[in-house]
Amino acid sequence: MPDDVLEILFTEDEIRGRVRELARQVTADYAGRRLVLVSILRGSVFFATDLARQIELPLAMDFLSISSYGEDSEGVVRITKDLEENIAGKDVLVIEDIVDTGFTLKYLLRTLGGRNPKSLEVCTLLDRRARRIIDIDLKYIGFEIPDKFVVGYGLDYRQRYRNLPYIGVVKPA
Ligand code: IMP
Ligand code: MG
Repeated sequence: MPDDVLEILFTEDEIRGRVRELARQVTADYAGRRLVLVSILRGSVFFATDLARQIELPLAMDFLSISSYGEDSEGVVRITKDLEENIAGKDVLVIEDIVDTGFTLKYLLRTLGGRNPKSLEVCTLLDRRARRIIDIDLKYIGFEIPDKFVVGYGLDYRQRYRNLPYIGVVKPA
């Protein structure tokens, strides 16, 4: 463990177990349908690929990249890499790493919703409800977390720590 990691919130085993449970729920809820998983780059990639491997349904994966302007940009979000596929008439499940204020997802759901998918739901690995500003309906939540900045399993601090197999709290630089 790098010595700037202060605390582990969820171990590799705990994450694996929770991802399996989520996949089971998704498999049951979407039985008989095909899914499009939309993974939000880059943070949700580890989660999305692990989840996809456990979902027993025909599915497609697509990726979308967004950037927010500045540090506390309050919802000014822009798509820097759009989906490859047309999602009209499809069952779409957006895969996020973490929902914090909710501004990013609000923008994203409005944009994707305008493309007329058959359904549009969210599966987030982490939910930090203490900082929520925009109320968003999250269909699947991996873990709720306290008001601490976390890294690992896809989540970064200045592009570092994404490859940690667990989710932890780092010492502020
Ligand atoms: P929101 O728009 O405030 O909900 O911000 C969500 C986005 O901020 C996430 O998709 C992450 O990219 C990033 N983010 C928020 N909190 C954390 C954190 O604790 N660690 C790493 N990234 C975070
Ligand atoms: Mg993100």
